[in-house]
Amino acid sequence: MTPDLPEESISSREMSPSPISSVSSSALTLAHISDPHLPPPPVHWREALNKRALSLLSWKKHRQYVHLAQTCAALVKDIGRSNVDTVLVSGDLTNFGTPDEFDAAARWLEGLPAQALVIPGNHDCMVRQSVSKGIAKWERWSAQDYPYVRIQNGIAIVGINSGIPTPPFMACGRVGRRQREKLEALLERLGREGLCRVVMIHHPPKRGLVPWRKSLLDHREVAAVFRRVGAEIVLHGHSHDATLTHIDGTDIPLLGVASASLTDERPHRQACWNRLCIRPYKGGWSIDLARHRPDGSVSERASWTRPEGHQAGRTQA
Ligand SMILES: [Fe+2]
Repeated sequence: MTPDLPEESISSREMSPSPISSVSSSALTLAHISDPHLPPPPVHWREALNKRALSLLSWKKHRQYVHLAQTCAALVKDIGRSNVDTVLVSGDLTNFGTPDEFDAAARWLEGLPAQALVIPGNHDCMVRQSVSKGIAKWERWSAQDYPYVRIQNGIAIVGINSGIPTPPFMACGRVGRRQREKLEALLERLGREGLCRVVMIHHPPKRGLVPWRKSLLDHREVAAVFRRVGAEIVLHGHSHDATLTHIDGTDIPLLGVASASLTDERPHRQACWNRLCIRPYKGGWSIDLARHRPDGSVSERASWTRPEGHQAGRTQA
């Protein structure tokens, strides 16, 4: 049996004034984007006497020519045309996680065409630094602690922090025991309350979507949480791939998205964002996905019912 969270852990972070048990009959439209890797302000040499030095080299030699601000701006403009209620940003807004980059990303979040929710990625947690110089700058769009939940129209958006400092050439993540235990109690309670649980995590909680050096170290344990207490859909970034898979051993959709700024000849790597429309359906939820290119064209559609009369969900690609 999982312990109940204190009431304030959930209700004080709601977006709407509705109580946690209220399930709205209206739809909610979400934009999911990830890994924008916004153009960095100048990095002071004192801030680069660590793993950032290698990342800075990589940015100057290659990444700055493929992660383009204009691509990301076009994508955000398309979101603005697409009538969304909330923008979910699943990490790696920065390149080196410097305080100046966190400030610049906060200004970018401020300018998005709808209210935003954010979680950090590995680039945002590249080196150990005080919280006040890093993720605390994004608290307005997240929370003081993880996992957090925001509730809107009967949809619970849960944010996990999988970013950890790692040695050079590594980009692993870890959720950790403390967050996993809180996540399990939270998802169990939100499910019992009849809310649609949309979970956002930077590193995919599944083997094979990224090389081992970029993987979520406790992906098995995190997937086991989802198997035990469920979720309606899990969104991730990090891979820079537009993928659609499942949490192992479940029918829970696991949805990846390409980087919001990347130019790449491979269609699944080219910048995109996911438009998710969620509405009540037969005691559960229907979820409709449309993947948008920055020019507004739709490259892929899928839909699910979650759960469908307490049976497995269905994918219609
Ligand atoms: Fe990442």
